[in-house]
Amino acid sequence: MTDIKSILAAYSERFNQQLPHFFTLPDGPESRVAEAMRYSVMNGGKRLRPYLVYETGRLFNLGFEETLHTAAALEMLHSYSLIHDDLPAMDNDDLRRGKPTCHKQYDEATAILAGDGLLTYAFEVLSSPKTAADTSVRCELISALAKGAGAFDGMIAGQMLDLYAEKLPADTDGEKLIKHIEEMKTGRLISYACEAGAILGGADTQQRQALAAYARGIGIAFQIADDILDVEGEQELVGKTLNKDVNQGKVTFVTLYGLENARQIAKQLIEQAKEALSIFGSKAENLKALAQYIIDRNY
Ligand code: IPE
Ligand code: IPE
Ligand code: MG
Ligand code: MG
Ligand code: MG
Repeated sequence: MTDIKSILAAYSERFNQQLPHFFTLPDGPESRVAEAMRYSVMNGGKRLRPYLVYETGRLFNLGFEETLHTAAALEMLHSYSLIHDDLPAMDNDDLRRGKPTCHKQYDEATAILAGDGLLTYAFEVLSSPKTAADTSVRCELISALAKGAGAFDGMIAGQMLDLYAEKLPADTDGEKLIKHIEEMKTGRLISYACEAGAILGGADTQQRQALAAYARGIGIAFQIADDILDVEGEQELVGKTLNKDVNQGKVTFVTLYGLENARQIAKQLIEQAKEALSIFGSKAENLKALAQYIIDRNY
């Protein structure tokens, strides 16, 4: 059986060695914001999204170096979304990845700027020739990330709905709503990870569609697993304040269906995601194992 936990850990270690090279801090006191950016990126995330870029790229015979810049840009953007998600005006969280959240370690204004900084820097990194030699490939990577992270149909739109879901009229279709929230707030960046690998690798339409179907399934399932961990995870492992969702009146698959049904829905999504990869044969073994890990993980 594929030991995906060790494979992901090995990738993370390699990725973590490279990431600091993207942060050259300026000399003056303005370096505070760059320090806060580095603090939030280098604080021990699972690196699931960068790994997905790499592993999808591997389907098209790309290696670590060829996917590194895109993977780093995505992790920066993801880290920005977490800094802002934790702010008092949003989820008001003190703990992230087992450490003080950015606004606790620094202050709120610095955390807002650090988020802005990571968001902006992600696109600077993507636009560099080191990301891909071909300008049209870079342009496609930039356009897809802007859409996926965006306010119309992307991560920001999902975050908006997440904050306002409980204020919506009582006759709102809960099932439709929660799928829409989780698909956007979490699914879009996970989908981007797979799309980016496909863009870098020059995938054809059929391959792109297969990867998009896989990503859709694991994206929602990943957030369901996050919602389950919020209820029954172990604080030290999860590294976040638990029971936030119920205490803040969030709508999640767990609050809507209960733990057991949420688990079943996630399981089904993962089975469908694995099936979507059949056209890649044994080359996609790690991606299939990763799909399973997404719902089996304990942090
Ligand atoms: C947390 O993402 C936010 C969600 C979208 C659920 P991760 O669970 O991937 O967080 P890190 O990067 O490993 O800390
Ligand atoms: C956060 O969802 C999703 C994004 C940051 C886009 P959550 O609010 O559930 O994430 P955690 O539980 O704080 O990591
Ligand atoms: Mg949130
Ligand atoms: Mg949160
Ligand atoms: Mg959560």
